[in-house]
Amino acid sequence: MDNIFKAIQQSAKKIKQAIDTKDIGYSESQNSSGELQLQLDIKCDMIIEEEFSKIASINSIASEEKEAAVQFHKQSPYFIAYDPIDGSSLLDVNLSVGSIFGIYKDGFEAKNMVAACYVVYGPRVEMVFAHNKVKLHLLQNNSFEYIKEIRLNNKGKLNAPGGTQQNWKPYHKQLVDSLFSEGYRLRYSGGMVPDLHQILLKGGGLFSYPATSDKPHGKLRKLFEVFPFAFIYKKAGGFAVDSKQDIMELGCSHIHDTSPCFFGSKYEIEKVIDAYKDR
Ligand code: F6P
Repeated sequence: MDNIFKAIQQSAKKIKQAIDTKDIGYSESQNSSGELQLQLDIKCDMIIEEEFSKIASINSIASEEKEAAVQFHKQSPYFIAYDPIDGSSLLDVNLSVGSIFGIYKDGFEAKNMVAACYVVYGPRVEMVFAHNKVKLHLLQNNSFEYIKEIRLNNKGKLNAPGGTQQNWKPYHKQLVDSLFSEGYRLRYSGGMVPDLHQILLKGGGLFSYPATSDKPHGKLRKLFEVFPFAFIYKKAGGFAVDSKQDIMELGCSHIHDTSPCFFGSKYEIEKVIDAYKDR
C-alpha cells in the first residue's frame, strides 16, 4: 500500500506542474461519459498510468478517461480506479479541481475497497488518504507533509446540492429547502473534490447529487467518484447513501456506472433517508 500511496503523491506533483504550465484546450475526443476531453485530462491520465505501471502489486487500473480497464500484472492483488482531473471544466475559470483514487483488492467492487484518496489542486495542494484513518497532507517544498486526522461532527452547517434544480424531484427540493430553512449555507463550486473537501474540513453538512429527470441514475461515477468518497466519509465518521442504501453495499456492473449519491454527517443523512422513504 505504501508504494501506491507514494505513486499517487508523485503523480499529484506532476499533475500540479501540468496544471500550472500546460495548455488547457479541448482535444478532439470524448471520454466514456460523453464529455469532451481536455488535452490536460489526457496528459494527467498518462502521468498516473505511468506511475502505477511501475508497481508490481497493481493488477489493473481503470480511468475515467479510458473506455476499458488496463491490466498490468495478472496475479497481483490491487485494482485502482481513478479520475485524473475531476471537474476539469472548472480549469478555465481557475477554480479548484481534484484527482480521485479508489484502491480495491481482488476486483472493482465497493465491498473490495481497501483505501481511497483524493488530491485537491487549489491555492494549495492537499491530499486526503483514507486507509484505517482519514489523514490530511499538504504539499510543501515538493513533499507531502502530514497535517492532521479528519473527523466529521454529527451535524454540519453546509449544503452542496448538485444537479439542475429544474430536474429535481419535488421531495428532493423539499429536503434541500428544509436544510436552508434550518440555517445551512450554500457551498457549491461544481467540483466534487473541493465541494466534498470543504464539508469534510468544516466538520459536516450535506453534498447531494440525486437522481434527476434527465439523469435517473445520477451523474457521478461509482468507481472513480462515488465509492472512493463514500469510503472516505465513512472512515471519517460520516455516512454515504444512494438515497436509501449504504453506498458501500452497492454493486457495479460496468466500470463507468453512475449512482445518485448523498455524503454527509449523521444528522443530514438521516434527513435524506427520511425524505426518500417510500419513494
Ligand atoms: O464529475 C463531474 C463533476 O464536475 C463533479 O466534479 C461535480 O460534482 C459535478 O460534475 C457537477 O455537476 P453539475 O454541474 O451537474 O452540478
